Amino acid sequence: MRSSIVHEGAVNINYEIRHIVEVGQRLIKSGRSMTWENIGDPIQMGEKVAPWIRAVVRDLLEQEVAWAYCHSRGILATREFLAGEVNKRGGAQVTADDILFVNGIADAVDKIYDLIRKDARVVMPSPSYSTHLSNESKRGSYENITFPLDPQNGWRPDLDELRNLVKYNPQVVAIALVNPDNPTGMVYAESELREMVAIAAKYGLFIICDEIYTHLNFTGRARHLSEIIGDVPAIALRGISKEYPWPGARCGWIEILNARKHPAFAEYVKALGTAKMLEVCATTLPQLSVPLVFGDARYPEHLRTRAAKFAARAEEVAEIFGALPELLLPKPQGAFYYPIVFKDGVLNGRQTLPIDRAPTREIVESIVQGVADDKRFAYYLMGAEGICVTPLSGFHTPLNGFRLTLLRDDDDLRRATFRRIADAIARYVK
Ligand SMILES: Cc1ncc(COP(=O)(O)O)c(C=O)c1O
Repeated sequence: MRSSIVHEGAVNINYEIRHIVEVGQRLIKSGRSMTWENIGDPIQMGEKVAPWIRAVVRDLLEQEVAWAYCHSRGILATREFLAGEVNKRGGAQVTADDILFVNGIADAVDKIYDLIRKDARVVMPSPSYSTHLSNESKRGSYENITFPLDPQNGWRPDLDELRNLVKYNPQVVAIALVNPDNPTGMVYAESELREMVAIAAKYGLFIICDEIYTHLNFTGRARHLSEIIGDVPAIALRGISKEYPWPGARCGWIEILNARKHPAFAEYVKALGTAKMLEVCATTLPQLSVPLVFGDARYPEHLRTRAAKFAARAEEVAEIFGALPELLLPKPQGAFYYPIVFKDGVLNGRQTLPIDRAPTREIVESIVQGVADDKRFAYYLMGAEGICVTPLSGFHTPLNGFRLTLLRDDDDLRRATFRRIADAIARYVK
C-alpha cells in the first residue's frame, strides 16, 4: 500500500463482550465445551417472546408496506405515536420530526459520536458500556474522560468528580450515561439526573442518555430523561432489543429533546438526520410493530413481569456469591446484568485453576501473559469450567471483576452455572 489506511483512533476500538468469544472459540476447538454467560441477548439465552407479540409481528408480514423502504426518519405514524408517548410524560415536548429511527441503538451511537467535532470530548461513567466508550475513543488518540461509579456505594456516580471534569476540560461538549446502567445495573436517582442536567445547563453541554433498559427497572416507575431535562438539549436512545425482546430486529430510535432551542445543537441533530438519509432508512417491519406492541393493554404487565424476573435472579446471585468475602456485590437495580467485583488485592498474576485437557491448558497459559488480572481469571474460568463471562476491565475500569448476565432462562442450568463460578472463585483466590 502506498500509505497507511486506518484512522489513528481505530486502535481504541474494543468490545470485550465479543472479543472474549474469540478466545472461547479457540478453546472449543481444543475440545472444551462452553456455556456463554457474556452476551446480553435474551433470545440466545432461551427467552421465548410472548405469543401475542409474535402474533403482532406475524400479522404484519402480510402487509405489503412491511416489505418496503420507509421514510428515512422512520414511519410517520410510529414516530407520531412515540412523540405522543414522550409528550404524555409531561416534560420536554417533541414532534414526530424529533424522533429518528435507527438500526438498533448501536447504529445511533456510532453516528452520534462520529458527528461530534474530533477535538471535542464526551464525558461518561467508568465502568462504561463499550459501544459508547469505543465510539468516543475511536475519534482520536485522547485519554477518555470518565467519572467513577463506586461499587462500595451501590455504584453511585461521583457527581463532584463529574462537575470538576466538565469545569476543567473545556473540550467536553456532552455527558453520556446509560440508565439503568450497563454493566452495573445501577439506576440513576432522580436527584442525580437533575444534578447532571444542571451541570450540562451551567456549562452549555448536551446529554446523551441510553435508555435501552429504562423499562427494566426493579425500583419502580422508570424515569425518562425527557421528564427532567428542562431546556437542556439532549438525545435519548430507545429500542426494542431488550424489551420485546427482539435484538435481531435491529430497531431503535432517538428522541431529540429541545432540538430547536440551541443553534449549535440544531445543526448537529440535522446532521444526524442527514447521515441516516445516506442509509435510506431503518428496518420497516419492526417499526410498524412498535405502536401495536407498546399500545397493547398487555404491555405494561409484560414489562413488570420481566423486571420482576430479573430482580429475582439478581437475588439468586447475591445469595450464591454472598458467601465469598473476597467479593463486592452491589445489587443491580435494573437491566439484566450483575457485575461482581474482586476486592483490592484479591487477584494477582499467579493464580490458576486446574485444566485437565492439555491442549486447552496450553492455550490458556499462552494467552494469560501480561493480561489484566480479571481477564486472567476469566480465561482460567473458561479453560477449567467452560464458562464464559465478560471481565470488568473490558468496560474501561481499573476495577477487577466480571459481568454475569441474568438471562439464562433454564433455572437449573443458571443456578448450577452461578454455583460453579462461585466454587471456581473460591479455589482461584485461596
Ligand atoms: C447500553 C446498551 N445500549 C445499546 C445496546 C445495543 O442496543 P441495540 O440492540 O438497539 O443496538 C446494548 C446492547 O447490549 C446496551 O447494553
